[in-house]
Amino acid sequence: MEKLLEIKNLSANYFAQDIKIPALRSVNIDLKKGETIAIAGESGCGKSTLALAVLKLIEFPEGEVTGDSVEFKIEKNSIDLLRLKEEEMRKIRGKDISLVVQDPYSSLNPVIRINKQLAEIYRIHHQTCEDIDIDGISKKYLKMVHLPEPQKILFSYPHQLSGGMLQRVNIAAALINNPDILISDEPTSSLDVTVQKKIMDMFFELKDNFNLSQIFISHDLNLISAFADRVYIMYAGRVVEEGKTADIFTSPAHPYTIALLEALPHLNAPGLDLKSIPGEVPAPESIGIGCAFAARCSHSRDICFNSLPELKKINDNHFTRCIKR
Ligand SMILES: Nc1ncnc2c1ncn2[C@@H]1O[C@H](COP(=O)(O)OP(=O)(O)O)[C@@H](O)[C@H]1O
Ligand SMILES: [Mg+2]
Repeated sequence: MEKLLEIKNLSANYFAQDIKIPALRSVNIDLKKGETIAIAGESGCGKSTLALAVLKLIEFPEGEVTGDSVEFKIEKNSIDLLRLKEEEMRKIRGKDISLVVQDPYSSLNPVIRINKQLAEIYRIHHQTCEDIDIDGISKKYLKMVHLPEPQKILFSYPHQLSGGMLQRVNIAAALINNPDILISDEPTSSLDVTVQKKIMDMFFELKDNFNLSQIFISHDLNLISAFADRVYIMYAGRVVEEGKTADIFTSPAHPYTIALLEALPHLNAPGLDLKSIPGEVPAPESIGIGCAFAARCSHSRDICFNSLPELKKINDNHFTRCIKR
């Protein structure tokens, strides 16, 4: 399958009080046409930073994005997003590549009606004449995300809607320009469990019915196992393992992945003792030269602290960064 997005050696740093915080470190990720990849890992591992870095939403003085390239295939061309000027990047964001974030309240303006906001998102990317029925188009997308009474929602203010409804509006907004790539950053994490399930059902529907390619960021491995074609496990700003979903879940290779899976509650085996991972994800600025997981790893040896393990191949799709392999 053709690669739609090829991220090469991408890094991101934040700047805070004169220190450089290397939150994303030389990450290589690719996404094929029609594929859903998941980015997993504990909180603080750099998942959100990756999403922001791809869309170049980290800028001086808050931080910087560096790296070799982020190749995006658009029609017959390939463009390097890393080299694009902000003006060009703005044409891609929300049109060719859309982002849905965790907090449903953060993306919409609370004092503007939904119809105006959706129309604005549509208009930025279309040379529309005045008489086009943008409300009609918006309604179509609100229906697509299973919002009841789209007409009523269209004329509501964000504060009149529940978190779950608002997240559906955000997803409709992300889809309204027919993007090639949808990046979702923990899109259901802030919602009630019952609402989460309904929104995930909709994500499954989107996957089946549209030719979308998706980057799905989540710390919920149960969700990922059902939803993604391939998985990238991130730890302390790096990808430590990648592989087809089945391989990651049946033959995990990195001690971090194994630890994450052992900490996973099994729906069919309640009461089973869960192992928690000792220690915490280190702060990016405190990470040394070796494997960042070494301090929490029961297999670590001196060498793990002193040099970064190379990425080793397990099969054509399955790779890990651990000397144990
Ligand atoms: N704006 C910021 N300024 C400084 N540090 C940040 C900022 N955003 C995130 N970080 C730090 O970068 C690291 C990765 O964060 P993040 O990408 O949000 O991880 P995740 O999404 O996996 O939870 C964390 O250590 C976090 O504290
Ligand atoms: Mg995050």
